[in-house]
Formats: sequence, structure tokens, C-alpha cells
Amino acid sequence: MKKLITVLLVVALLFSMAACAGAGAKNDKYVGISMPTQDLQRWNQDGANMKEKFEAAGFKVDLQYANNEVATQVSQIENMISEGVKVLVIAAIDGKTLTQVLGTAKDAKIAVIAYDRLIMDTDAVSYYCTFDNLKVGTIQGQYIKDQLKLDEGGSYNIELTTGDPADNNAPFFFKGAMDVLQPYIDSGVLKVPSGQVKFEEVATPDWSTEKSQARMEAILASFYADGTQLDACLCSNDSTAKGVTNALASSYTGKYPIVTGQDCDIANTKDMIAGKQSMSVFKDTRTLAAQTVTMASDILAGKTPEVNDTTTYDNGTGIIPTFLCSPVFADVNNYKELLIDSGYYTEDKLK
Ligand code: BGC
Repeated sequence: MKKLITVLLVVALLFSMAACAGAGAKNDKYVGISMPTQDLQRWNQDGANMKEKFEAAGFKVDLQYANNEVATQVSQIENMISEGVKVLVIAAIDGKTLTQVLGTAKDAKIAVIAYDRLIMDTDAVSYYCTFDNLKVGTIQGQYIKDQLKLDEGGSYNIELTTGDPADNNAPFFFKGAMDVLQPYIDSGVLKVPSGQVKFEEVATPDWSTEKSQARMEAILASFYADGTQLDACLCSNDSTAKGVTNALASSYTGKYPIVTGQDCDIANTKDMIAGKQSMSVFKDTRTLAAQTVTMASDILAGKTPEVNDTTTYDNGTGIIPTFLCSPVFADVNNYKELLIDSGYYTEDKLK
């Protein structure tokens, strides 16, 4: 009998040790990071920065890229949930497609942080960490206004290109710019020869360079082939700006227009140095990554994370508390200080 009790005790001890080891392996600091695509430089940087910073904070990390395919993103998130992540950080491909999978995350008590892009139509999102998207557009619009000296009158031609309608950020970028430019369109100082001014008309599915280029080539062929001067191209980001500058290179011979952008991608920074793109908006992804890691750590520690916007971002289920990082104006005059001196890029990368 004594022997049996001893055996039972040993078995019980072994069981509890195994259970503890299992809990350790599961890891309370386990984050799933779901990024949209590796095609665009910025998401590679976002992913790499977050992985490094989360690991430095003691997290186990599962980082996945979804090749811009919604079904892939959903199944990667499903896997993360079943692996036992405690927090999900997601930059959605299409903000309206994650309702069901995030319902599962909510049931499993997993915290969800929307990263850069707001996730719509789900109450599973706890927080949103992004750059001030409206301000990105305002910086672009203001640049065009200042460069063309629109307040002094005159008559200028502009064409507008914005981003992916599935990305909740795109209307914010466009609105920020149009809040500045619309009064000059209304007064006739700015004209849009293509007549394409509504968000849906100027949007670029998938933020695709090829689609932006094809659209711009069609516009140039129809409205500028007779020598009409194009003075400015509002482009919401660098991938669409690249499409526009490609189109200008192949199909436009007049005086080169102002071209805006966003992200300071390497290829576009080179274009700024070469005079093909006039400006970009620098969003230091290191800052966003650091803020997200702080937010996730606070959530898991039971603290309320710091936010600085509780009015702007309604995802259809209510306002999502948001931390907004600041975007910064970049052009050929300040890129060295912003991008090289800060260690964001080495000088070699921009050669
Ligand atoms: C991001 C931009 C990026 C774009 C295309 C947006 O949601 O905020 O920085 O250029 O997506 O990936």
C-alpha cells in the first residue's frame, strides 16, 4: 500500500511538472504579427523592427506575411490563435475581412492591436497604433499649395491618385490633402483636366504601382498629349508615386510636375534625389514598432496603454482608442538628416 501511495505521488509530481513545463512552453508573452505583404519595403521594415523589439522585451514572436491575399492572412491568424498567442498585431490587407477570425480571437481572450491600418466591423480590436493619417494627407496638400503658391492665384493643372479602397487609411490620406486643395479647385485656381476627383475615381486597388502607372498613362494620353501642362500630381504614397513617375517618364514631355509621396521608400528617396519625385512623408516605422511593443506589454501586464486619440477612429463598433505617431515632411533638403543621420538608411542604400 505504502509502495502504491509513493508511486501515485511520483506520478502526480511528474504530471504537475509536465503541466508547468507546458505552460512555460506556451509562454505568456507570445505575440502573433500579421503583415500584409513583403512586396512593399515598408512592411518588411515594420515586421523586422517589431520582431526585434518584441524579442528584446522577452516575447516569443510569430511573424507572418500574407502576400496581399485575404484568405492567407485569415489562415495565418487562425494558426496563431491555435498556437496560443496572447496578443495579435495585425496590419489588415482588407480592413473588413477579419470579423470572423477575430471573433475567435476574442473568445480565446487574445488582445488585438490594429497596426497602422484600422480593422473594421469587429469589437475584438482593443487598440489601434498608427501614424496620424489625416496629417499625412495635409502635409502633401500643403506642399502642393506652397510650391504652386496657390494663394497668389493663377491657373494650374493637377491629377490626383490615392490608395486602396480596402485600406481604411486611404480615405484619410485623401481627405487630408483635399481639405487643403479643394478650395482652390472650387475657385478654379486648380483644374483637374481628367475630371477624376472623387475618391473612388482616383483610388488604386492594392496600392499597386502597375495600376497607378496604367491609369496615369491613360490620363496623359487623353488629356495631355496635346501639350497641356501638368503642374502637380498628388500621390498618396510612394508605390502609387512610382507608378505616376513611370508614366511621366514614358508618356509626358512637358515641364515636370510636382509629385508627392509617402513612406520614403529607398527607390522613391532615390527619385527625390534625382528630382523625379518632389517630396515624401517620412513615417519612422521604428517609432511605430516601439509604441506597439509598449502597448502590447502594457495590455499583458494588465495596465491601460497610453493613447492620444479617442475620437477619430470608429471601426463600425465604436471608437477604438488610438496612439498616433507623427508623420514628418521629407524632401531632397532634409532627407540626409531624417534618414541617414537617424540611422534609418545607410548612405550606400541611397546610391
Ligand atoms: C500605409 C502606407 C503604405 C500603404 C501601402 C498604408 O496603409 O499607411 O504607409 O504606403 O498602406 O502599403
